[in-house]
Amino acid sequence: MVMISYKLNLVLIIILIGGSFNDLRVSSAAANLTETCNGICGGLTLSYPFGFSLGCPIQFNCSAAGQGAKIGEFSVQNVTENSILVGVPTNCTRKIEDMTPLFGKQFTPSSENSFLMENCVNPTNGCSINQRFLDKQLKSCESTGNISCFPSDTSSKSSEFLSMKELTNSSCRLLYTSIALESVGVNVGIAVEFERVRLGWWLMGGCENGTCVVNANCTDVYTPDGYAGHRCSCLEGYHGDGYINPCREP
Ligand SMILES: *[C@@H]1O[C@H](CO)[C@@H](O)[C@H](O)[C@H]1NC(C)=O
Ligand SMILES: *[C@@H]1O[C@H](CO)[C@@H](O)[C@H](O)[C@H]1NC(C)=O
Ligand SMILES: *[C@@H]1O[C@H](CO)[C@@H](O)[C@H](O)[C@H]1NC(C)=O
Ligand SMILES: *[C@@H]1O[C@H](CO)[C@@H](O)[C@H](O)[C@H]1NC(C)=O
Ligand SMILES: *[C@@H]1O[C@H](CO)[C@@H](O)[C@H](O)[C@H]1NC(C)=O
Ligand SMILES: *[C@@H]1O[C@H](CO)[C@@H](O)[C@H](O)[C@H]1NC(C)=O
Ligand SMILES: *[C@@H]1O[C@H](CO)[C@@H](O)[C@H](O)[C@H]1NC(C)=O
Ligand SMILES: *[C@@H]1O[C@H](CO)[C@@H](O)[C@H](O)[C@H]1NC(C)=O
Repeated sequence: MVMISYKLNLVLIIILIGGSFNDLRVSSAAANLTETCNGICGGLTLSYPFGFSLGCPIQFNCSAAGQGAKIGEFSVQNVTENSILVGVPTNCTRKIEDMTPLFGKQFTPSSENSFLMENCVNPTNGCSINQRFLDKQLKSCESTGNISCFPSDTSSKSSEFLSMKELTNSSCRLLYTSIALESVGVNVGIAVEFERVRLGWWLMGGCENGTCVVNANCTDVYTPDGYAGHRCSCLEGYHGDGYINPCREP
C-alpha cells in the first residue's frame, strides 16, 4: 500500500498512468482569427479552443509519429473544462528547465501538483512518500541524493498556479516526475496521479468583455502573469464548447 501523508489526513488513492490519449504538440500564441481551428490529429478530436492549427487559441502539436497531442516533448493525455492533463514520465536526468514548455501563455501547472525532486538545498518535509513505493518507481534512477516533494503542502497555496520561479527557487537539482492531485469528493480524499501534471488553462481577456456564447457561464482566471483570462462552460444541462458553438440542450 502506497502512503503519502499530507497535513490534511486524507484518504489517498494512487493512480498509475499508463498510455496517453494520443500524441499532440502545442503553441500558445494568440489564435489567428482568419483561420479555422482544426481539432483533428489522427484518431483524436479535440473541441475548441483546443486544436492543431493557427486558428486554435490553445494550439498543440500533432505528433508525426501518431502518438497524439504534444506540448514540447510531453504528451497531452486529456483536456477537461478547466484542466489539461499531461504525462511526465519518470526521467532520471531531467533538469527543472526541461519543464519550461508546460509554463505557457495560456496554460501552466496548477497548484494541485507536486514534483519529485532530488538534492534540494531546502528539503521539504510535508510529503513523505513510502520509500518502497519510491524505490520501485524510481528504480531506474541510481539516485544517491535525497528526494523531496515540491511544494510540500499544496493545501496552503495562496495562488491557483505554480510558477517556474518557485520551481527554480526550490534549489533542487533534478526533477524526476510529477504527481497530480485531485479532490475526489468532500471528506473522501484526493486522488494522486503519478507521472502526471495538471495544467490550468484560460483564454485571453476577462469575462467583462463577454466572449462566451448564450447559455454559457464565464469564469475569470487570475493568470500568473497578472493579466486577465477567462474560461467559458455551458450551463448545467447544456452541451457545447461555450466559445464558438452554441450550448444546446441534449
Ligand atoms: C510545436 O512544434 C514547433 C516546431 O517544432 C515548436 O516550435 C513549438 O514550440 C511546438 N509547440 C508546442 C506547444 O509544443
Ligand atoms: C493569419 O492567417 C492568414 C492566412 O493564412 C495569414 O495571411 C496571416 O498572415 C496570419 N496572421 C497572423 C497574425 O499570423
Ligand atoms: C478525460 O476527462 C473526462 C472528464 O473528466 C473523463 O470523463 C474521461 O474519461 C477522460 N478521458 C481519458 C482518456 O482519461
Ligand atoms: C530525459 O530528459 C532529457 C532532458 O529533457 C532527455 O534528453 C532524455 O531523452 C530523457 N530521457 C528519457 C529516457 O526520456
Ligand atoms: C539534500 O541534498 C542537498 C544537495 O546535495 C543538500 O544540500 C541537503 O542538505 C540535503 N538534505 C538532506 C536533508 O540531506
Ligand atoms: C525562495 O525561497 C526562499 C527560501 O525557501 C523563500 O524564503 C523565498 O520566499 C522564495 N522566493 C520566492 C519568490 O518564491
Ligand atoms: C476589455 O477590453 C478592453 C478593450 O479591448 C480592454 O481595455 C480591457 O482591458 C478588457 N478587460 C479585461 C478584463 O480583459
Ligand atoms: C457559473 O460559474 C460560477 C463560478 O464558477 C458558479 O459559481 C455558478 O454556479 C455558475 N452558474 C451556473 C448557472 O452554472
